[in-house]
Amino acid sequence: MSSSQKFEYTPDQPLPDRIPARMLAPAQQSFTDRDRFRRELTAIFDADWVMVGRAGSIPEAGDYFTASLGERPIILMRQQDGTIRAMANYCLHRYTQLLKGCGNTRHIVCPYHYWSYDLDGSLHGVTNRKGFCPGDLENQALESLACDVYLGYIFVALKHDLAPVATRLAGLGEVLRNFGLDRYQDRFVEHHDTWNANWKLIVHNFIESYHVTYTHKKSIGPSNPTRAAEYGPVGADYYTVHSNSYTPEYFPAVFNPHLDTLEKKRFYVAGVFPNGLIAVDPNFVWWMALEPVAENCTNSRWGVSFLPEAMAGMDDPEQFIRDTVDLLVTATSEDKEMVERMQTGSQFGSANQGILHAPLEIHIKEFDDYVQRQSGAQ
Ligand code: FES
Ligand SMILES: [Fe+2]
Repeated sequence: MSSSQKFEYTPDQPLPDRIPARMLAPAQQSFTDRDRFRRELTAIFDADWVMVGRAGSIPEAGDYFTASLGERPIILMRQQDGTIRAMANYCLHRYTQLLKGCGNTRHIVCPYHYWSYDLDGSLHGVTNRKGFCPGDLENQALESLACDVYLGYIFVALKHDLAPVATRLAGLGEVLRNFGLDRYQDRFVEHHDTWNANWKLIVHNFIESYHVTYTHKKSIGPSNPTRAAEYGPVGADYYTVHSNSYTPEYFPAVFNPHLDTLEKKRFYVAGVFPNGLIAVDPNFVWWMALEPVAENCTNSRWGVSFLPEAMAGMDDPEQFIRDTVDLLVTATSEDKEMVERMQTGSQFGSANQGILHAPLEIHIKEFDDYVQRQSGAQ
């Protein structure tokens, strides 16, 4: 399939067979029920690959950031050999959280009694060692998790036997191939942004472009209006992708020689199930990784990364970075307000189900199908 055929449908055209004529939103309880939330942590976040951030944000050995896999605290650490390791973020002595935030270190040192660990998690030093039974301290290491990098994004899983991320996201990788996302420079990362909303509502918001004109009046609404929203024929088990074209007066200057005509004037938005979101512009990419905290609270780690050729080709790339980040901070806060309103509205607890727009909100149904599938598999 050539890339010019990938997004041939617009809302004005007849619906292809895969889109049902009538689709309903998940019931309000799906976003407010505590028991359901706890089941999702087990069925989804303990059982599948989860996106946590960008590999380029920790480029040097000893660079790390901390994250959550469901409720489990974890560390993402760049190793001496250049790989990234995901480890449990608790001390083997008495479970103290070892690292917070992000930074660079030569050893991981527990702040409580100063046990220390090498970058790969091996127990390195134990204070007042004589008091311990020597055998108990040999060959000890922090628990490791499965860790994979695809398109420049880090994925983590509690299970070590899942199919590689590249396999499950191969179709998405094909759609985004010409962008070369793994080379983008990670220039902005926000690790803690709390949304008073269920994690699924945040996913729903970003995988449809129906809202753009109405929600994003102060940011991307004028340049990427709802009438320019398209949905792709791509809907697979583990991701969705749709696009939103720029109107001609906003066509960006394009520095990536590999993009085709359509790619040069589009904004592609992918949902990477369960918790990753990626919006790809010809010159930058916005991304978000969601960390569920409670049924009505989610932390988002999000950032903006830039095409190296665009940075090299622009007169003032730093200004472009500032302007782009400012625009996306505004757009993200506009989204946040609407998502938190959806959470508040859902607290009513009605049995009525919302009515979805047949082509433009198809991906909400596809994501919900994924959630049901994962939940049913437990
Ligand atoms: S809990 Fe970490 S050294 Fe005691
Ligand atoms: Fe939005």
